[in-house]
Amino acid sequence: MFKRLNQVAKIFVHKKQDLIQLDVSSIPLHVAIIMDGNGRWAKNRGLPRIAGHKEGMNAVKKVTRAASEIGIKVLTLYAFSTENWKRPQEEIQFLMKLPSDFFDTFVPELVEKNIRVMSIGEIDPLPLHTKEALTRACEQTKQNTGMVLNFALNYGSQDEICKAVQQIAQDVEQKKLHPKDISRDTIEDYLMTHHLPDVDLLIRTSGEKRISNFLLWQIAYSELIFSEILWPDVSEEIFMAMILEYQNRHRRFGGL
Ligand code: FPP
Repeated sequence: MFKRLNQVAKIFVHKKQDLIQLDVSSIPLHVAIIMDGNGRWAKNRGLPRIAGHKEGMNAVKKVTRAASEIGIKVLTLYAFSTENWKRPQEEIQFLMKLPSDFFDTFVPELVEKNIRVMSIGEIDPLPLHTKEALTRACEQTKQNTGMVLNFALNYGSQDEICKAVQQIAQDVEQKKLHPKDISRDTIEDYLMTHHLPDVDLLIRTSGEKRISNFLLWQIAYSELIFSEILWPDVSEEIFMAMILEYQNRHRRFGGL
């Protein structure tokens, strides 16, 4: 897959006009990405892991631009999982500083491109400066009607499902909901993604082939792309090549 993606990507790099190969009628509405490989990218260069996260932030900007340009409606990025608290304190502190670095430099462009920032995950346990940076960016972009740039921060899908079940049980207890009326749609209404369309495409970079507690319910019928490319190496062109690969898949949703 690596070679194939690279070959396709080269077409875009060297012959920009080939961008029209993307079928505008089947652009995925919602793309979710597990941005993996920052640490290895840094290690390969003899740099500290945090250098990989910093470069990863630049890849976020590139992919955001590309996604918005081709008309993706929602881009959900797994920036910090509920399991990432197990990392060394120094790395966590650096990761928690990234949102303010990112938004301080990027919000004007997000506003110009009509992109709205949103988030999923438990925000309360985050450091105050991280929470404030995120809330400010959401506030500054809330009028925007274009792509939603959705950060999964302190997000874990199993916790999300547990909370949804707790809330459903509470609503049943308070007679707001009857157990026989609990459908798939009801469950979706209680998830943190209730306001977003289904995930059409899930991408994980760096060669790992795991879902790592990301959007477990929401990816039931998603196409999956596992790329060998390390996240900081993902460019606009490589991302476009992944979208092209998605467009070449035949989605059947359980049918024939
Ligand atoms: C996984 O790579 C990456 C993360 C846990 C952090 C992802 C964060 C960014 C890409 C920057 C986010 C930017 C903003 C604006 C919040 P890893 O460290 O597990 O890499 P490895 O598997 O090679 O060690």
